[in-house]
Amino acid sequence: MTHVVSFINLKGGVAKTTTLVQLAETLAFIKGKRVLVLDLDPQTNATIALMGETRWEAADEAGQTVAQLFLDQIHDTHIFDVTRAIVRGVSNLNRITIPQGMELGPEVTYPRIDLLPSSIRLIEAQDRMADISTRSHYTVSPMTVIHRALEQRFSAYDYVLIDCPPNLGYITQNGLEVSDFYLVPTIPDKLSTYGIPQIVKTISGLQRARNLKIRCMGVLVTKYQTISGIHKRGLEDLPALLERAFEGSGQAPAPLFEVRMPQANATAEAMDFDRSPTNFRDKYGRGKSGSFSNLYELPMLLADEFIHRLDESGDQGEAEDQSAVIPAS
Ligand SMILES: Nc1ncnc2c1ncn2[C@@H]1O[C@H](COP(=O)(O)OP(=O)(O)O)[C@@H](O)[C@H]1O
Ligand SMILES: [Mg+2]
Repeated sequence: MTHVVSFINLKGGVAKTTTLVQLAETLAFIKGKRVLVLDLDPQTNATIALMGETRWEAADEAGQTVAQLFLDQIHDTHIFDVTRAIVRGVSNLNRITIPQGMELGPEVTYPRIDLLPSSIRLIEAQDRMADISTRSHYTVSPMTVIHRALEQRFSAYDYVLIDCPPNLGYITQNGLEVSDFYLVPTIPDKLSTYGIPQIVKTISGLQRARNLKIRCMGVLVTKYQTISGIHKRGLEDLPALLERAFEGSGQAPAPLFEVRMPQANATAEAMDFDRSPTNFRDKYGRGKSGSFSNLYELPMLLADEFIHRLDESGDQGEAEDQSAVIPAS
């Protein structure tokens, strides 16, 4: 059973991408899962963190990014090739090299992260998405490009994680269209939480209008500073804010994740692909954080809660047997 989750907040800089990359790496290299990351943000941060700049430049030049998928629809070209575009076995924690362009079917079950990279050219696509309907004489919806091109690939993975740009435009809607859940990372302060009611309202509206399965899986507090009075008050105010945000949505207020991701330099540094960490613990840091003696325990706790919530969500199928699990060295 594949779980598809979009990471979204209308505010930039709230650790959407960092959380997604941490989670992808923990799910793959600690929990032994197969993960696909779809980067829908023209900032390409998840892409660069997972595959590095050099490989990304080659992919972008060859038109093998998600931007080209949209641009092909807009210009009626056929440059994007999904088999070539999905980069197998990314992340500087990956120890297995897979030949370029090699097709890996659902039967290949060793843990890894595959990535559909983004490109800055998504900005160009975003501005012209409405052309997709006019070109096709209104037979093709601009919201369903990902659905039509990629959704059948999802069954090869345990988790598909989608990094959305900080807006609710057509590109984001393509991600929501294929998602089972959305997760809202937020710093517990006024400006970061301000857009949450807007996200809930818009997504509930889309969910009803287009009969989508998407639901909110929870709100995750990021970049948390225990010594900050602002964060402490923000955290206290969050349950009431969520209560209000979900009023009239027909859905129960999204739960707050119990785990909070603390502000830490090591977390920011972990996003540098060129650092070549020796293992997961080295990458995510051993420094003390609050009551935790090692910072790297936090992404592990996040992954535990993430898996647990999806398993409890009621739409899980039979858990597949995972034959190869890399130990948390
Ligand atoms: N837990 C953290 N501690 C310290 N810095 C963080 C943490 N999480 C993210 N950052 C930093 O905050 C900035 C924004 O994070 P990012 O994940 O790019 O946010 P978004 O995707 O929401 O725009 C980046 O510079 C990132 O390195
Ligand atoms: Mg980002």
